[in-house]
Amino acid sequence: MQPSLTIRLEGPADLSQIEGVVRRAFGRPDEAQLVNALRRSASPFLSLVALHGDHVVGHVALSPVAIEGPRAGPISAGLAPLSVLPETQRHGIGAALMKAALSECSSIGWEAVFLLGEPLYYARFGFEVAAPRGLHYESHAFDHAFQCREIRRGALVGVTGWVRYHEAFAGL
Ligand SMILES: CC(C)(COP(=O)(O)OP(=O)(O)OC[C@H]1O[C@@H](n2cnc3c(N)ncnc32)[C@H](O)[C@@H]1OP(=O)(O)O)[C@@H](O)C(=O)NCCC(=O)NCCS
Repeated sequence: MQPSLTIRLEGPADLSQIEGVVRRAFGRPDEAQLVNALRRSASPFLSLVALHGDHVVGHVALSPVAIEGPRAGPISAGLAPLSVLPETQRHGIGAALMKAALSECSSIGWEAVFLLGEPLYYARFGFEVAAPRGLHYESHAFDHAFQCREIRRGALVGVTGWVRYHEAFAGL
């Protein structure tokens, strides 16, 4: 039987486990270093852990983004990275983290969320490819994977431009 899953905000005692989970999910240290850099310098920073008992098995981070366009965009977040330990993947932990993260956004004041990823996976959480709205990340090479989701209905209506992530992402 699967142990029950808890999702909560990260605490100081979780940090080394989070680093291990992110590192193992991506098979390299870069994303774990990104999480550490965001924790130090992004504000607000939302970091949620998924736990089986005392063991961190998944993690998600959100940090502010800026939309550079002809008119002011909504207060928005970039969701990255999302990580689940390889041996516990495909048991709904990623989905539970996504749902919890999205439900926290409005209490932080985020009106829209962006991410880069596989649209087949993220469509189930209400994300859509952003390029048809005129929203882009870095270059058009990312258009197929760059996605958005409104938290406040209508937040992205008429908003176009380039979505800039926190400077810590430049190290990726
Ligand atoms: C992506 C990830 C977080 C999903 O976590 P998870 O706990 O396995 O996800 P869930 O159990 O909620 O969902 C699994 C479903 O998503 C699908 N899925 C997972 N990653 C996918 C991807 N990249 N493309 C398409 N589908 C994907 C699986 O096929 C599975 O589908 P099914 O339920 O129809 O079998 C996890 O695979 C992971 O940590 N991957 C490595 C890191 C990564 O790529 N993170 C995302 C980019 S930031």
